[in-house]
Amino acid sequence: MSVRRLLVTSALPYANGPIHIGHLVEYIQTDIWVRFQRLRGHRCIYVCADDTHGTAIMIRARQEGRTETDLIAEMQQQHERDFAGFDVLFDNYGSTDSEENRRVCHEIWRALRDQDLIVEREVSQLYDPQAGTFLADRFVRGTCPRCDRPDQPGDSCQCGATYTPADLIDPVSVLSGARPEVRKATHLFVQLGKLHDFLVDWTQSGRHLQSEVANYLKGHFLHEPLKDWDISRPAPYFGFEIPDSPGNYWYVWFDAPIGYIASSQQWCDIHGENLDDWWRSEQTEIHHFIGKDITYFHTLFWPGMLKVAEFQLPTKVHIHGFLTVGGEKMSKSKGTFVKASTYLKHLDPAYLRYYYASKLGSRLDDIDLNLEEFASKVNSDLVGKVVNLASRSAKFVETSGLASTYPDDGGLFARAATVGDEIAEAYEGCDFGRAMRLIMELADRANQFVESAAPWKLRNDPAMADRLQEVCTITLNLFRQLAVYLAPVLPRLAEQTGRLLNNPIQHWNDSQTPILGSRVARFEHMMTRLDRRDIEKMIEESREVEASEAAPTAAWDDSGQPLLDEPLAEQCTIEDFSKVDLRIARIVAAEEVPEAKKLLKLTLSLGGDQRRTVFAGIKAAYSPEDLVGRLVVAVANLAPRQMRFGLSEGMVTAAGPGGSDVFLLSPDQGAQPGQRVH
Ligand code: MSP
Ligand code: ZN
Repeated sequence: MSVRRLLVTSALPYANGPIHIGHLVEYIQTDIWVRFQRLRGHRCIYVCADDTHGTAIMIRARQEGRTETDLIAEMQQQHERDFAGFDVLFDNYGSTDSEENRRVCHEIWRALRDQDLIVEREVSQLYDPQAGTFLADRFVRGTCPRCDRPDQPGDSCQCGATYTPADLIDPVSVLSGARPEVRKATHLFVQLGKLHDFLVDWTQSGRHLQSEVANYLKGHFLHEPLKDWDISRPAPYFGFEIPDSPGNYWYVWFDAPIGYIASSQQWCDIHGENLDDWWRSEQTEIHHFIGKDITYFHTLFWPGMLKVAEFQLPTKVHIHGFLTVGGEKMSKSKGTFVKASTYLKHLDPAYLRYYYASKLGSRLDDIDLNLEEFASKVNSDLVGKVVNLASRSAKFVETSGLASTYPDDGGLFARAATVGDEIAEAYEGCDFGRAMRLIMELADRANQFVESAAPWKLRNDPAMADRLQEVCTITLNLFRQLAVYLAPVLPRLAEQTGRLLNNPIQHWNDSQTPILGSRVARFEHMMTRLDRRDIEKMIEESREVEASEAAPTAAWDDSGQPLLDEPLAEQCTIEDFSKVDLRIARIVAAEEVPEAKKLLKLTLSLGGDQRRTVFAGIKAAYSPEDLVGRLVVAVANLAPRQMRFGLSEGMVTAAGPGGSDVFLLSPDQGAQPGQRVH
């Protein structure tokens, strides 16, 4: 078998949010495939990166009062930590906001220009005069032009109507609440239509795409002339400025896939390799793994760009379906929108790797995480059928080690060895569900063997010592064979098995011959049973109650104690009250003051460019991350006061005695920064 050279990618997750169990379908799928290829002896590198550019990140950084660079660095750190927690192992994890990426973007852009594929056109877009930015559709809300439902997003309504943001009645910008204006700007377009013939050939060749995908593209895009692709956004935009079009930036989806090449470039630089051997060589296979929602970009636009700039085209784009939990979309209020980091607090990553593997096929069907099935599959397959083989036999051969010749096992090992090809074929074709079924059938047979040979009985009879060693030699070899087959899915189990039998698992072929005469280490436990209560805890922790749907739960506690603790103040007149100018303010930044035990430093926005710095004694009750973005009621005309840490220019209002019992006041929904409280 000749050694293949493979370059594998997963989609670049948006820097904008945390990694969740939906993402993990893809990253676990890809990681399994990569580990499988390596186990087969192929050369395989796996690259990825954070997808950092675009309006969303720009707005969020603004709201949090920090630079985009700072924000994306923090997100990348979290993402890398989450992936590592699930044993998703990249050879390089980069960022689309890198110099390498900028360089490749320039190169591809040059090629598009040289081949006359770029045109300029005026585009009308909604503009937020207060925030000073053009608005993507989802940053505009308003009343549906069809059914009059208020507060609908800029592109579609609950009633099913689709429209453009300009069609909305009374549109407002979600950034500032201002009424957007229609403004014209020049955008640059890629004339994909000029690549139509090439794209038909490439997508319909039957070699690069699942057949459902090829048909979908033919039916939805390729049956008519391809539309030009709007590839630029006017300033302000967080991204790369287009070199020959100052003031315009590449739209995030231009530089995102180029990030695959840039991340490979970083890897090449570190390892003294040549990028062209990976991206411009027919000797290398390029495999992309993506979800079905981003099919268009990866199967039409991306191959087009690669073709124009003379890079190697993808060998395959492997597309998977979406995760549902209990048959429904992940939901924050139901607690099924589970972040990777929350999962890891409660459950072993191996459980999810195995469960996803058992559910993944080669088609685009959605994958359902059924929590009951999850628990029972993990417990009956992994713990009950696989790990049990080792835990029921290893301790009996701790002193003797394995036998030095392989005993007669009735052909069990040999038969399971021949199934290896079929399992490998299933892995290769991304039909991991089939691979898992084949492996569990072998596990069933191995368990039948141990059941009838019953080593736990043999060990009581000194005359049966040799037989005991034989039975355990067989059992542990059958176990090891399964561990090899499962190694792409369960790398930790493979390592533990290697240590147990003093024989590391390094190659698929380790499944083809038994190991003999080796020492057996003390059995350390390999995997515990999944406790359903841990699933419940995880769901509970993930549940986010929307303010509007929170029902009063606890009984009212109107004891009157607070009034006794602090009696009412002396009467005052309305004039007295109106001296105090209370305003709605948004907390746009919050940070700890290292020298002060009780204080947080808050930056309040009163709208426009009106900012106030305030030191508030709420550190014991609130963490800075939870405050950013929320509206509070501030005293806006309080005389500034010099404090040890800086000037305090007002105060935020709150109830409660102090310490961790502090309760900030906030307005009902709809209030805007700067509004006076009367
Ligand atoms: N940034 C783009 C990809 C750019 S690739 C050049 C993006 N990011 S994402 O964070 O939204 O998604 C990353 C990958 O995770 C995508 O392939 C997406 O399909 C996949 N998934 C995100 N949510 C998912 C589920 N709920 N279920 C399965 N896959 C999901 O798209
Ligand atoms: Zn409607």
